[in-house]
Amino acid sequence: MLQVDFSNLDARRIGPDQGVEWDRERKAAAPRLETARDALWGRVGEPEAMLGWVRLPEATDVLRAVQRFALGREDVTDVLVLGIGGSALGAKALDAALAGVGARLHFADNVEPEPVAALFDRLDPRTTLVNVISKSGTTAETMAVFLLALDWLRRGLGDGWKRQVVVTTDPERGVLRPFAQRHGLASFEIPPDVGGRFSVFSPVGLVPLALAGVDVADLLAGARMANAGARADAEENPPAQTALAQHLAWRKGQRISVLMPYSTRLALLPAWFVQLHAESLGKAYDRTGSRVHAGSTPLPAVGATDQHSQVQLFREGPFDKLVVFVRHREADRDLTLPAEEGLEELGYLFGKSLFQLLRAEAAATAHALAAARRPNYSIELERIDAYHLGWLLQHLMWQTAFLGELWNVNAFDQPGVELGKRYTYALLGRPGYEELAAELARAGVEP
Ligand code: PA5
Repeated sequence: MLQVDFSNLDARRIGPDQGVEWDRERKAAAPRLETARDALWGRVGEPEAMLGWVRLPEATDVLRAVQRFALGREDVTDVLVLGIGGSALGAKALDAALAGVGARLHFADNVEPEPVAALFDRLDPRTTLVNVISKSGTTAETMAVFLLALDWLRRGLGDGWKRQVVVTTDPERGVLRPFAQRHGLASFEIPPDVGGRFSVFSPVGLVPLALAGVDVADLLAGARMANAGARADAEENPPAQTALAQHLAWRKGQRISVLMPYSTRLALLPAWFVQLHAESLGKAYDRTGSRVHAGSTPLPAVGATDQHSQVQLFREGPFDKLVVFVRHREADRDLTLPAEEGLEELGYLFGKSLFQLLRAEAAATAHALAAARRPNYSIELERIDAYHLGWLLQHLMWQTAFLGELWNVNAFDQPGVELGKRYTYALLGRPGYEELAAELARAGVEP
């Protein structure tokens, strides 16, 4: 179950200045949302539409292949995941949340030498599987660490290195696919119509998570529930409704979208969401070619920790934020707070449970924000498990797709990150980038 409580958006609760007439707005928006829904579902399967992520939860053949692979590698104690952006953030967030009983995952998603070297120092190549993940098969950061990993494996294992690598990449593009074929490496495909930040339920996320012992079948079962929700009529369609809430907030000038799970286990979920929302919706041009500079700025937070940090700003700072809470109804384990003589002032805590306190803090913060006319809504999960997180992540991908329709931008490309990559190639002397290198030299830019 995934439920959304929108009452703290409503003008009746937070006033007409910051709030919206939620019932009226959602009725008025229903035709537009249903057009968006039909357009999205109608484009699934069109290669250029990049909506392949919609079908990933149904891909039982891929699921079985991943599960078989993981079962065959029970000798692996550690998985070194080499990938960046959409090729790392989903598995990273889910691994942190679900703490599988299998191999430990380590993510090398940056090119700072010290942490990378520390990983090679710490890990044992005999029991470490290197999972290199890149849709394009060309990303400089991932390729750089992969070169180092190959050298590290070869030095440790000689010819045995090949068994310790699994490649996840496009069926054709990039350098990784031919490399895997040449050396007979284990490999998985990222479907061409699935973009990086929408790929967590492809082998990009499934392979490392299955090796970590996460129930990947449950993840996909939850994601199918989000798909079912995304087919419903507008007012019963959860991602259409949360997209509408984001859109209405944006119209009111609330152009920062905070995601605040009340859970340490979900602390990395906002990082995944930040990339999904920012890279999908921050666009200079709409689909007609008009300059729009669309987007709202995603901001990560974690409850209750950030009550002692950012909530002061959320409650009293500029009226520019929409806060989205993620809460769960049931704890897997709980701790009862014991009484302590001499600390009677804390008597209100004695006998309560830690989870009761967490729930109370979330409810209190949501209400305190509403009382200060700060719009917020809460997504409630039954519990934190693979099924509900599969549901939540696919829901947020759908929300992004709906927002793309509402703002008429292509949510599935990322033209704004290309130039930086090309300048990097030029600074490193890659053939073909001489003109850009000359431009950088004229501007005095040096590595
Ligand atoms: O969402 C995206 O497309 C990007 O964030 C990519 O995931 C990221 O740039 C890594 O790309 P690749 O998987 O091609 O190495």
